[in-house]
Amino acid sequence: MIACGLDFGTSNTTLGLAGANGPRLAALEGDAVTVPSALFYDRDGHAEIGRAAIARYVDGQDGRLLRSIKSVLGSALIEEKTQVGRSAIGFREVIADFLRTVKSRAEAGEGRAIEAVVLGRPVFFVDNDAAANARAEAVLREVAATVGFREVSCQFEPIAAAFDYEQQVRAEEIALIADIGGGTSDFSVVRLSPERHRAAERAADILANDGVRIGGTDFDRHLSLGELMPLLGYRSPMKRPGRDVPSGYFHELATWSRINRLYTARTLRELQEVRREAAEPERVERLIHVLAEQRGHTLAMQAEEAKIALSSRPSTTVDLGWLEPGLAREILAPALVTHTAELARRIAARVESCVRAAGLGLADIDALFLTGGSTRLPHVRAAIVAAAPQARLVEGDTFGSVGTGLAIEAARRYGARAA
Ligand SMILES: Nc1ncnc2c1ncn2[C@@H]1O[C@H](COP(=O)(O)OP(=O)(O)OP(=O)(O)O)[C@@H](O)[C@H]1O
Ligand SMILES: [Mg+2]
Repeated sequence: MIACGLDFGTSNTTLGLAGANGPRLAALEGDAVTVPSALFYDRDGHAEIGRAAIARYVDGQDGRLLRSIKSVLGSALIEEKTQVGRSAIGFREVIADFLRTVKSRAEAGEGRAIEAVVLGRPVFFVDNDAAANARAEAVLREVAATVGFREVSCQFEPIAAAFDYEQQVRAEEIALIADIGGGTSDFSVVRLSPERHRAAERAADILANDGVRIGGTDFDRHLSLGELMPLLGYRSPMKRPGRDVPSGYFHELATWSRINRLYTARTLRELQEVRREAAEPERVERLIHVLAEQRGHTLAMQAEEAKIALSSRPSTTVDLGWLEPGLAREILAPALVTHTAELARRIAARVESCVRAAGLGLADIDALFLTGGSTRLPHVRAAIVAAAPQARLVEGDTFGSVGTGLAIEAARRYGARAA
């Protein structure tokens, strides 16, 4: 049986193959082993995925872009339909379309069908709701079965990352794994060693798992609400004293998985009303323009790009000339920190709670292993490191550790294929 590990991420997806010579990531878009978790549906409902999907949207082709579809798992949106082309389809179907394409690309590379999968899952799809978490995992498993996997099981994403890290561990140690992704932040405390790596059963080595539904997309949202949405009328006054432009539109527009819900005739009619009553109607006019032209993802991508730029530069300028000639916003790195300090604090708080749940003290942690794109944010990284200051810092494969570790787990559970 050919088995794989599938890291269906909020922002990026990888698929690890369990070969006899060890795990490796499959090429999923050209030579790239990561594929953005994005779909573009054209007018006929035909779907493209990944960078190609984003490119079609950026080129202005007629259709719908969907991103952050994993965030829909565990939320009420999963039971909703979304307009693609002339019809509306459910989010299960959207996720199935994405995973089916990923599976078939990996199979094309292998020349054989992949029958078994270990699906990565966050420790918590949603916070403080066991039933919603169980439902989210059940939906993910169902979708995996729908796209043709005959054997389906799950593993926590940080545990998978631990198994990737364990390949380089030379002596027994206690490691804290931190996976800060696009949608969630996940932590595990695990006992690792070369001998244990060969064992079939690892349950006793997993000392604790913890997580929180905060990831890079939340940083995008807060940055957008803090710096870009005010240009479109967020927190700007209505003519009637004491009232602001209703904030709901801006929260949806700044949330990747909810943008398309704003593209309705009704919303546009409502906003014409709002514009008439707004003290600064020219701002609301920009919002109307973004929605009428369905450019919400353009704005979200610019917020994300600004965030990424500010993680290595002191300032960046968001060029909004497409929205209005000459419109631009300069953002300084400290502003990103200010808008998102609370998110970083809540992420770092899980470090301590995870270590406590393991029945250990921070001094017992030998290594701190970092993976996930949002560990590139300096203030997030600093907050995590400060929570476990004496641990040796180990850099993982930022975008590949979870997928590689899931392939290791797949080999354990389903057997590694002879090369
Ligand atoms: N250089 C960078 N600086 C800051 N953030 C970055 C950088 N590179 C990527 N990111 C962010 O990392 C996130 C994606 O990381 P990753 O691919 O690990 O997430 P994911 O696995 O798709 O999500 P999850 O595991 O939460 O489902 C995005 O929010 C992206 O903006
Ligand atoms: Mg991830």
